[in-house]
Amino acid sequence: MEAIDKDPTFIVRSESPVCGGPPLDRLVSRPLTWREDFFVRNHGAIPDLDVDHWRLSVEGLVATPMTLTLGELTSRFARRDAVVTLQCAGNRRDELIAVREIPGEVPWGAEAVSTARWGGVSLADVLGAAGVRDGATHVWFEGLDAVTRHGHTFGFGSSIDLARALAGDVLLADRMNGDALPAEHGYPLRAVIPGYIGARSVKWLGRIIVADRPTDNYFQAHAYKVLPAEADPATVDWDAYPAIEEAPLQAVICVPASGAHVAAGRLIVQGYATAPGHRRVALVEVSADGGATWVEADLLDRPAPGAWSRWQATVEIATGDASLIARVRDSEGGTGAVHVHDRWNPKGYMNDAWHRIGVRAG
Ligand code: MTE
Repeated sequence: MEAIDKDPTFIVRSESPVCGGPPLDRLVSRPLTWREDFFVRNHGAIPDLDVDHWRLSVEGLVATPMTLTLGELTSRFARRDAVVTLQCAGNRRDELIAVREIPGEVPWGAEAVSTARWGGVSLADVLGAAGVRDGATHVWFEGLDAVTRHGHTFGFGSSIDLARALAGDVLLADRMNGDALPAEHGYPLRAVIPGYIGARSVKWLGRIIVADRPTDNYFQAHAYKVLPAEADPATVDWDAYPAIEEAPLQAVICVPASGAHVAAGRLIVQGYATAPGHRRVALVEVSADGGATWVEADLLDRPAPGAWSRWQATVEIATGDASLIARVRDSEGGTGAVHVHDRWNPKGYMNDAWHRIGVRAG
């Protein structure tokens, strides 16, 4: 496995490329995820980039194409920072795999999510300086890693529509929790798109291309789409399905762990919740009796678009086996699916079903 500087408790889900995340109790122990716990999702090897030779190219439908060193980028534009949660669209795939197998995909538990304070410059400011030309509708991001799919090797890429790019909250980040970006998280520069699935936040950013259509990069045009349950990813017409944009709505129980032995009586339940796009987490509820009654959880982090809210609830459980369930509502009334089998799809994305775990109380 490539050397990444992670805590010994880090759960490796794939060795090559490196993918993994922290145990759930560590994940919710802090408002910001430390570097050594922050989940990693790579599709190729971590590129060895020398910042002295690295440049960001801004090109395509712009009046003034630019090639910028990191120093030029960060001195020319106002510095900004924001707390943003990244979440992989495959978070909680293991529950979908339990419904029906999903070959060839990383078997994530609920740890493919983390939160950092990202620092950098605003994409909108950079595009403003480049001058977006008439006819532009999308902004593409291209990474400097080398990913091989179906015999072709290319950089991981994504695109977002122009309005999203100009909204002001999309960051070109060179700092994570106050430090330079670690190699595995995109050094020297990455995109950070609040409220979108992690796949759109391209790491090791090399090119920004303003265009009149979405990118045809494999990871935007294929992959990262929710296909109907009966579709075969090998033969499906990928163009018939939209690319996933917004991150899933989630409420996940992190403490106690699934299968834990706990004391009967009052039990403290802790977890995280996320909302899609510009929505906020509005309400998290926990049931300790299979859904007959619900307790409202306290939100520990002030709900804000793009960032998680950790939560805590106190429930009563009787001696014996108990089922804990968490459910969530967002600021526009959105809710997740009640049952995970309603969310099964061939690539295993966007599992937002009520999170259910079993514990034994004695
Ligand atoms: N950017 C590049 N260049 N290569 C990648 O493999 N993975 C994407 C995204 N950006 C990826 C990338 C995916 S699928 C996710 S979920 C996030 O990065 C994960 O970011 P992290 O590894 O910093 O947690």
